[in-house]
Amino acid sequence: MIDQPTVDRIIDAAQIVDVVSEFVSLKKRGVNYVGLCPFHDDKTPSFYVSPAKNLCKCFACGKGGSAVHFVMEHEQLTYPEALRWLANKYHIEIKERELSNAEKQAQNDRESLFVVNEFAKDYFINILNNHIDGKSIGMSYLRNRGMRDDIIKKFQIGYSTLTHDAIAKEAISKGYKKEFLIKTGICYEKEDGSLRDRFWGRIIFPVHTVTGKVVAFGGRVLNSDAKTAKYVNSPESEIYHKSNELYGIYFAKQSIIKQNKCFLVEGYMDVISMHQSGIENVVASSGTSLTPGQIKLLHRFTENITLLYDGDAAGIKASIRGIDMLLAEGLNIKVLLLPNNEDPDSFSKKHSSSEFQRYIAEHEENFIMFKTQLLLNDAKDDPIKRAALIADLARSIGLIPNDIVRYACLKECASILNVDERVIMNEIKKHVEQRNDKLIEDAFKQKNGGNIPSIDDNSKTEEVQAAAANIANEIQYQSYIPEVEREKLLFYQKEQMLIQTLIRHGEKVMCIIDTEETKEYPMTVIEYIASDLKQDDIQFHNPIHRKVLSEACSHLHDNGFICERYFLAHPDPEISRLAADMLSSRYQLSKYHAKSQKIVEDEERLFELVPHLITDFKFAILQEEMKHTLQALGKPEVVSDAEKSIKIMEHYKELSEIQKEMAKRAGDRVVLKA
Ligand code: GTP
Ligand code: MN
Repeated sequence: MIDQPTVDRIIDAAQIVDVVSEFVSLKKRGVNYVGLCPFHDDKTPSFYVSPAKNLCKCFACGKGGSAVHFVMEHEQLTYPEALRWLANKYHIEIKERELSNAEKQAQNDRESLFVVNEFAKDYFINILNNHIDGKSIGMSYLRNRGMRDDIIKKFQIGYSTLTHDAIAKEAISKGYKKEFLIKTGICYEKEDGSLRDRFWGRIIFPVHTVTGKVVAFGGRVLNSDAKTAKYVNSPESEIYHKSNELYGIYFAKQSIIKQNKCFLVEGYMDVISMHQSGIENVVASSGTSLTPGQIKLLHRFTENITLLYDGDAAGIKASIRGIDMLLAEGLNIKVLLLPNNEDPDSFSKKHSSSEFQRYIAEHEENFIMFKTQLLLNDAKDDPIKRAALIADLARSIGLIPNDIVRYACLKECASILNVDERVIMNEIKKHVEQRNDKLIEDAFKQKNGGNIPSIDDNSKTEEVQAAAANIANEIQYQSYIPEVEREKLLFYQKEQMLIQTLIRHGEKVMCIIDTEETKEYPMTVIEYIASDLKQDDIQFHNPIHRKVLSEACSHLHDNGFICERYFLAHPDPEISRLAADMLSSRYQLSKYHAKSQKIVEDEERLFELVPHLITDFKFAILQEEMKHTLQALGKPEVVSDAEKSIKIMEHYKELSEIQKEMAKRAGDRVVLKA
């Protein structure tokens, strides 16, 4: 762990122009610098670097932030890794936080496992290239399969001889501990206590993490003998969680970012062959279906996934369930079937790389369309099967979070099936509602012992509120009604503007007030926002925003506390990223000013601006609640229950009173009909 003063020193030292220049050639334009964005396929310079703010941002794809964020994104490093990278660049000595003994032990163990894997990788490479069996058996197998030398080297492929304890002996003689040989799975222990190699007689494919560390190996037999498993893989260990790794991600990441797209294939050989064909944005799920962890990993790099399958339909049907998971994660999925049961490996051997690329471009197909066709072929004119098919498709479509994409899919699907759009839309609504009901129930069961608290329940714990905010988020995200989507935007936008003001100006004094204890108390933006929200018992909806506010409050009186600085250097990258985002998008506030025709520096108007933003925020929340109340009134179970209806109407009336009151207070605001 890096201690906070060191983090501060690194952040102070890191000059954004300097850091970005290592990767992007920059030209001066006015007070800023511009260059081609390294995060997307940029044709005209969209990447802006501001030395004054010490931030960078791409105005086309939105990526950027502080120097730390830039390095994280560009080198695909974690937050601490990026800090170390910068420390190294600026020759800053890293002061580690003192670790507890248990932490030290765990860290040593992990490190030892990596060290042993590194040794094993080099050992296998050496055998392949220099041992007589390696050359005559291993290397000739790879050459027979058409693998080029540069590719063998790049993927660090190795070979293990038929001897059953070759690496075990070598490792022990070099002083590697038995314990770690076993934990990494390179060897296992026999009953008599002796060590035996796991991968003897196999071609070895090291599995790398995103940052290029070897966490596991896959070993392939050379002769396809049905008696032995074709592949043997390393077992799970402290450093290898199969469900969080994707084969090839280390070699693919730059290309995935550049192309903003990733191919997903089944096997090691498919990844390697595609690289040899010049297609580098490819990873393999290694035979099993995708896990949520793997999907998250991919999503860090792109939203566009193309699945490359061999043409046999059984395999496809089996994997369709897994694909729904990708849709729910908001990824755009395309499918490409290769002809005649070819896989990417065999296909690439028979076609030139430009033929391969052209075939992909011409044949990849939107997943929903693909699924529609596939199911339609099955159902033919059978009405029952067709109904099931519509329900099935609706479920998939309903998972797509982006409503424009979802709607486009829905339309196309309706046209292929030759049914009215509304039929599918109703199905989707049904699915969405069912899912939401279950979501709510589950969340409350987990958080609150099964009780679903009502709106005005005073005993709302913070946890339940957080859960509720999450659910509200989720529901709005998935709900099919576009108006809800727009409204969500409205009130999130207001919340964001408040957070932006807080991060930029939090510690500044915005007004002088008289309190009971002190006359003329200079009140900061933080105090104002916190106390005003508290007065009305309102919280930010986004948990990160809540954290920002509460931390701002507790650090306000620290010596030399400056919000901007504090949050930019925050150890939680989600928060530091938010700060960078809020600091580089100045336009929101200026737009706000433009509306009132007075364009002045924010700082001079804080006393005006902040109360304005707060009122706006409350207004948006209120409107949202009024809308929900109205919706509740329309529910069948409410319509048939007079007592319930009256209660809800009373609540609505109360809300509209508050709204009028707020409007009066705001003065210049006109109440629009809800
Ligand atoms: P080749 O057969 O040499 O072309 O290898 P491949 O990597 O293309 O393998 P294949 O398409 O047969 O299988 C896809 C992936 O499934 C492999 O890369 C492995 O990760 C995994 N796999 C295949 N066979 C086995 C096996 O017997 N055991 C285990 N654990 N995994 C396997
Ligand atoms: Mn294969």
